[in-house]
Amino acid sequence: MGKTEPFASGVENDDGLTTIRPTTPNRFRKSIQHAQAARLRGRLNSEEKSMVTFRLNGEEQTLDVDPSMPLLWAIRENLGLTGTKFGCGLAQCGACTVHVNGNAIRSCVTPVAAVQGGAVTTIEGLSSGEALHPLQQAWIDEQAPQCGYCQSGQIMSAAALLASNPNPDDEAIDQAMSGNICRCGMYQRIRKAIKRAASSEAVVGIFDPAAAQSATKEADHV
Ligand code: FES
Ligand code: FES
Repeated sequence: MGKTEPFASGVENDDGLTTIRPTTPNRFRKSIQHAQAARLRGRLNSEEKSMVTFRLNGEEQTLDVDPSMPLLWAIRENLGLTGTKFGCGLAQCGACTVHVNGNAIRSCVTPVAAVQGGAVTTIEGLSSGEALHPLQQAWIDEQAPQCGYCQSGQIMSAAALLASNPNPDDEAIDQAMSGNICRCGMYQRIRKAIKRAASSEAVVGIFDPAAAQSATKEADHV
């Protein structure tokens, strides 16, 4: 079996306590450097730029960028939505999961040009103001996150699952969520949260944040 590189190292402080500092395993450094280079190209090489237009959480956006730039960079750096996370850059952890035309995809390996004319939904687009998506509420109720880093990707994969299968069994959940890695090992709570959302009264498959928000307002006035 190959040697596993650590994701964190302990550093002893003056007071004798050990602080855990995250490290970047060597096998990921290359992809991070590649992504950083792609980002720089997007900013600096105007010859490679072109206009890309798509809807992000319901609003039309047009970017003048390198079309090969990962969608993840466009979302986080050009459009300022940082709920979607960078984990591996290799389509292997699921931290960067968003929906494109309703399908869960890995935005770290999707060129921004691939979503031209499409509809992109991020974790920020699942809710509307106070109206949470049933999965977001279930995540809170089940206390699913630990560090939280993987969780927006987990929720986006779960949302795609419930949209196509409103009542998944354990096997369907495990299969749909197998590409989303949680370093904190919160898999049992994540599964419970998905089941809680699936059994909630909200119709997950056609969840409408605006309608949910107005229902919340009406309830506040009763
Ligand atoms: S950052 Fe995209 S799958 Fe890991
Ligand atoms: S909650 Fe920490 S990585 Fe999943």
